[in-house]
Amino acid sequence: MEDRIISGEADMLDVTFEQSLRPQTIRQYIGQDKVKANLEVFIQAAKLRQETLDHVLLYGPPGLGKTTLAAIIANEMGVNLRTTAGPAIERPGDLAAILTALEPGDVLFIDEIHRLPRSIEEVLYPAMEDFCLDIVIGKGPSARSVRLDLPPFTLVGATTRAGSLSAPLRDRFGVMCRLEYYTEEQLKQIVVRTAEVLETGIDDHAAMEIARRSRGTPRIANRLLRRVRDFAQVRSNGTVDLLITDEALGLMQVDRLGLDHIDHKLLIGLIEKFRGGPVGLETIAATIGEEAHTIEDVYEPYLLQIGFLQRTPRGRVATRLVYEHFQLEMPEQ
Ligand code: ADE
Repeated sequence: MEDRIISGEADMLDVTFEQSLRPQTIRQYIGQDKVKANLEVFIQAAKLRQETLDHVLLYGPPGLGKTTLAAIIANEMGVNLRTTAGPAIERPGDLAAILTALEPGDVLFIDEIHRLPRSIEEVLYPAMEDFCLDIVIGKGPSARSVRLDLPPFTLVGATTRAGSLSAPLRDRFGVMCRLEYYTEEQLKQIVVRTAEVLETGIDDHAAMEIARRSRGTPRIANRLLRRVRDFAQVRSNGTVDLLITDEALGLMQVDRLGLDHIDHKLLIGLIEKFRGGPVGLETIAATIGEEAHTIEDVYEPYLLQIGFLQRTPRGRVATRLVYEHFQLEMPEQ
């Protein structure tokens, strides 16, 4: 029993520590300038009118800061943040329990909102539009519908695929924000900021190298920083410099462009097994043993962004840049 209490406390500390690494205010948040500029106005206007903020949809590739932004929105509005995820809400009753427990003005964050079952989406429509819930009580001839009033709230939805949301759900978000990959300079600033929070010394060249190899993604940058910091602590004097960064990232199989062994498997497979394509997503998935939707949501967006992959009606194609990166001969078409 005692063990439990202790481990429970440790978990709490970990959560608080993890959250303290994240920026708490719009001012501390680096990058996504357009999104920040818009949100700042909408938040200020809602506060001036003493209204709740309109519902916000955040969409874009994973790891770009959607959860962090949701927390910042709640913090800037001075309200509670309640967090859940699409796959966690299985029955209308699950959603009803969450919604009826909200306090006026709260932010309800639903991660992976595209994975909400359709039957739940339908409960959400009147909740978003009129702050009420229509629930059916009983079964068969004695079933009846009751309407419950809810406190006004802000729904912040996050998704990697806005296209998978049903049109009626999408239309109920008053604010839509598309998150973009970060520049190397922005990632460098994030790495330096995180190193400060972790009280780790880091030099400029090392911060830039981590930024370069982070695929435009703060979550990856912060993860690489922690691992390089481990190497610096164990193999060197604790300070993160370029030499230890290079060595650590090499050992972690993160190449000069930040591509890892799965990116390599995907690209090399495309070249060696399919002469560079075109080849269908399902075929690529089967060849490298990953789920098609993981490739589509996690790996492919960055490879498309840096021009390594092209999507054609007949499938994915490896571009000349891939052959150059791996120093391979490009076959004649
Ligand atoms: N940590 C993770 N993402 C961040 C961001 N966008 N700004 C500052 N710190 C971060």
